[in-house]
Amino acid sequence: MPTTPPAVSFDTDHGTAVLRTPNSVYAVRVGADGSPRHVHWGPPLDALELPHPHSPADSSFEDDAAPDELGIQTGARFGPAGLQVRFPDGTSGAQWHFRGHRVDGGELRLLLTDRHYPLAAELCYRVRPDSDVIERWTELTHTGTAESDAGPITVLRLDSASWTAPHLPDYRLSHLVGGWASEFQLHRDRLPVAETVLTSRRGLTGHHAGPWLALDDGSATEEQGDVWSTALAWSGSWRITVHRDPVGRTTWTGGFGHEGLGWALQPGETLHTPVFAGLYTPDGFGGASRAWHAHVRTAVLPEPDRDRPVLYNSWEATGFAVDQAGQCRLADLAAGLGVELFVLDDGWFGARTDDRAGLGDWTPRPGAFPDGLRPLADHVHGHGMAFGVWVEPEMVNADSDLYRAHPDWVLHAPTRDTTELRHQLVLDLARPDVEEWVRATLDRLVTENDVDWLKWDANRPFTDTGRSVHPDPDRRWIDHTRAVHRIMDRLRADHPGLRIEACAGGGGRVDLAVLARTDQAWTSDNTDPVDRISVQHGFSQLFPAHTMASWVTDSPNGITGRTTPLRFRFHVAMAGALGLGGDLTRWTPDELAEAARLVAEYKRIRPLVQHGLQHRLTGHDGLTAVHYAAPDDTEHAVLAWRPTTRFGHHPAPLRLPALHTGHRYRDPDTGRVHDGAVLRNRGIDLDLPAGDHASRLVRLHRVG
Ligand code: DGJ
Repeated sequence: MPTTPPAVSFDTDHGTAVLRTPNSVYAVRVGADGSPRHVHWGPPLDALELPHPHSPADSSFEDDAAPDELGIQTGARFGPAGLQVRFPDGTSGAQWHFRGHRVDGGELRLLLTDRHYPLAAELCYRVRPDSDVIERWTELTHTGTAESDAGPITVLRLDSASWTAPHLPDYRLSHLVGGWASEFQLHRDRLPVAETVLTSRRGLTGHHAGPWLALDDGSATEEQGDVWSTALAWSGSWRITVHRDPVGRTTWTGGFGHEGLGWALQPGETLHTPVFAGLYTPDGFGGASRAWHAHVRTAVLPEPDRDRPVLYNSWEATGFAVDQAGQCRLADLAAGLGVELFVLDDGWFGARTDDRAGLGDWTPRPGAFPDGLRPLADHVHGHGMAFGVWVEPEMVNADSDLYRAHPDWVLHAPTRDTTELRHQLVLDLARPDVEEWVRATLDRLVTENDVDWLKWDANRPFTDTGRSVHPDPDRRWIDHTRAVHRIMDRLRADHPGLRIEACAGGGGRVDLAVLARTDQAWTSDNTDPVDRISVQHGFSQLFPAHTMASWVTDSPNGITGRTTPLRFRFHVAMAGALGLGGDLTRWTPDELAEAARLVAEYKRIRPLVQHGLQHRLTGHDGLTAVHYAAPDDTEHAVLAWRPTTRFGHHPAPLRLPALHTGHRYRDPDTGRVHDGAVLRNRGIDLDLPAGDHASRLVRLHRVG
């Protein structure tokens, strides 16, 4: 009887570590020079049959050498090094002695020590049942002691991992770019023979780029083709360098911090990198996304199975002009529509009547909430809704009591100009006293007001990070982010019912690390449904639909000025965690009635949208759709959108490849029964209304 090989094994005779997942094998062999080298990442095969990788010492041509699992600077290595260190005597680069390995369940550690200096590294790998995702990280330790007089080792770069794709005839890079109000735009370009750097130097994950990428040979589609993709679990500055060399090989190395930083590793100290996760799939970009979504559910989100509530947020309706009477009125209207969570946004605290003052003073603004937030919280709870509050705890206005009391708490360089963005400064959460102040302040806010939900915003990147009081100033690029993670973790632990929504001026800080301690992310301040289609398309490459907050707001849209029908706005927002953000006091009775009907419709398909399998579909003439399928094929929901109509053409039928041949499906809204093979191969007629901004929700139940 064939036996299933263990998920993680190490063959001592071959010096080879092998990780097996349902659809892939990953293999590493320790080179003659002690450095672990990459041998395979792709379809399953017997890794022990693979030829030995060369190391630079074996070869007269550096190009022959197999890539390191974490590039070091020594020897004939000329690519981007994932580990860059300088020892106290001025020598640069590690040179490894392979000390052995450790396997513990799905976890593998390759243990390395420097041949001369007191430096040890553990290259760590983890696989989980039923997943093709491989999680990797590095732990770097200064093994000297203060007594032995070992000085600090300067770490100039410590990546989580270096990844290698197999030789392909060509390489295409998919990644996400954008800006405020245009986050998560998917770019798919031929990879140049060069080093391509994806990075954030902003202290936040970034609107402009994200630490996710996918590589293929240029031929993969949504449904098929080999795709290698990786995602870094880090919410601060980061860098990923993709190196396609002239001999047709592509490696990429990535981790926290941007270039030009240095950290002093003290004797006895260990630096842990964030996880850099990788995934190979033979099932195209759609298969890759579904595998990532499953990973986010099973290994990342704190409460993946909890339904995300339909929320109402007051920001677009009221801006900073919030007060108790106005918010109660909006809460009444929202409750009537079936909303389950009411979130009070910016403007409720301190002297915050616009973005110039008050940030940092987290007590209710007396003119707006004379008796504090409790009466509003009680009013919202009285409607059976949860109560949420907006905070931006890492930031401060110069015009605030907090800044007046603690001008030294912000990131600044005394000899440099201070940069205010949105009139605000960044609190230095790398200081333990500031971290504790933020934690205690939020804890009090949640406790005193029975807060069920925090929308945690961060509206500016870091600048002016020079600081004289810290012995190791560049550490703040790590320590601030870790403090944010720690505060979120602690708040959740101390308030088990509390949920957190990640936000950073829209989608400026969405990554696997922030999702490990939040429930969903605010995707973009741009709520125009036409623009949202591409934002949501990019977001869905890595993140599942129930982490994607999407609101229905007013028309014309406040940012783009575009006018769209309510139904179209709903159908686009229903593809994620639905929210409402319009000024409900100005909606007509007909609009309110239609909204209530569409909220109810969303709740019917919520289990599929939030917990089903997602398939992105492209039709003809600008038609796109997202299909959510129950894993057991019993129920399906398709949301289809056609922003503009061209030449009066009727769109061709939309093919639904996630349906099964041999099964029949009934549309409960029309009563029609469809054949699975027909819907897969010929497609469904959507009967979209004529004109722009047409949309349709199709539900299908399997009947045989
Ligand atoms: C940026 C967020 O993305 C918005 O939703 C809103 O909360 C504002 N900040 C408030 O200042």
